[in-house]
Amino acid sequence: MTDLSPLPATEGLGEGMLAALAGMPDPAGSSFTRRFEQDLTERFGSQHAVAVSSGTTALHAALSAVGVGPGDEVLVPALTVVMTAAPIVQLGATPVFVDSDPDTLDLDYADATGKVTVRTKAIVPVHLWGRMSDPADLRTFAAEQGLVMVEDAAQAAGSSRAGVRAGMVGEAGCFSMKDGKILWSGEGGYVLTADPVLAAHVQAFRGHWLTPPPGGRPQERLAVNGRLAEPLAALAQANLRRFPALLERRRAQTAYLVQALADVRGLAPLQPVKDEAWNHYAPLLRINLPDPRAFAEHLARQGVPSSTGSFRLVPCDTRPAFAGSDRAPCRGAAQILDRTLALVLTERDDEAVLDRYAAVIAQEAAAWHA
Ligand SMILES: Cc1ncc(COP(=O)(O)O)c(C=O)c1O
Repeated sequence: MTDLSPLPATEGLGEGMLAALAGMPDPAGSSFTRRFEQDLTERFGSQHAVAVSSGTTALHAALSAVGVGPGDEVLVPALTVVMTAAPIVQLGATPVFVDSDPDTLDLDYADATGKVTVRTKAIVPVHLWGRMSDPADLRTFAAEQGLVMVEDAAQAAGSSRAGVRAGMVGEAGCFSMKDGKILWSGEGGYVLTADPVLAAHVQAFRGHWLTPPPGGRPQERLAVNGRLAEPLAALAQANLRRFPALLERRRAQTAYLVQALADVRGLAPLQPVKDEAWNHYAPLLRINLPDPRAFAEHLARQGVPSSTGSFRLVPCDTRPAFAGSDRAPCRGAAQILDRTLALVLTERDDEAVLDRYAAVIAQEAAAWHA
């Protein structure tokens, strides 16, 4: 029986924020951040964790740490948000978009292989909607092509596949805590890595290179301010304590919706594969109806939010910033986005909200081009 009774939503959150505020102003302070980082290493079994101001900053810092720079090419699935590609461009490198397999949603390795050049430095797999590609396939591809791997695990906290946690497949895993993520702090992010040198680079990168990695000199490089604000670190720490409950809830919400939509013709839920422990960040339904993207947009207008319907998610290679490339468009990614209803949930969504979503979806699917 699915339990969707309300979570103790504010448990510990207010107390944490108040404790952080009580210590402010403290120009040298970062004690909540340090404690949060320690808790992250324990929760996710990572050797190092560095908290930053956003998922985008996590990617920026980690890609800088693995040495991505001007002239490099970085393989990125087209099946992603623009925030995955922006840090690559910021570092002076070029994102090279790779297609995905419409059946599995995994990376299209044939396409990826064909796009490797002497300039290819790294690959950034994206665990969109919390779904992971097979870690062994990713590692084999990266090793064979001599690429470093920085994962965009922004949506994948709590997912694992074949016993490997999201963010721990490659050299570094980058997470977002933007509102709506399962582990949230309003804004924020973090990098998980087993590599102490990489972690030290990320630490220097987020703080103006004031504390350089071992052997370096303060501010010998210019860097950004990518620190996580202390009150948000307190919030993140309190939410990390609730993380098992938050994860359980997202899975329960998905199970509830999938069950409620079981008899709706034209929609088929995507199930995790055998060895996958998916966090169910977004319940996914394949739309087997005419004009599927228009259907998702129509649902959004009826109050059912989704990646394509509400946020107009399109393949990253078709974004205006990347227009003008002479490469063929990534059709698999386009097909996946057009046909997938990726519902947007938050921890507050209870039975009443999910019942409403299910009723609207069922009614509109029946009426769609009937
Ligand atoms: C897949 C993916 N990558 C990167 C990001 C960027 O994270 P942030 O918004 O915290 O900068 C997001 C956030 O929404 C995301 O979903």
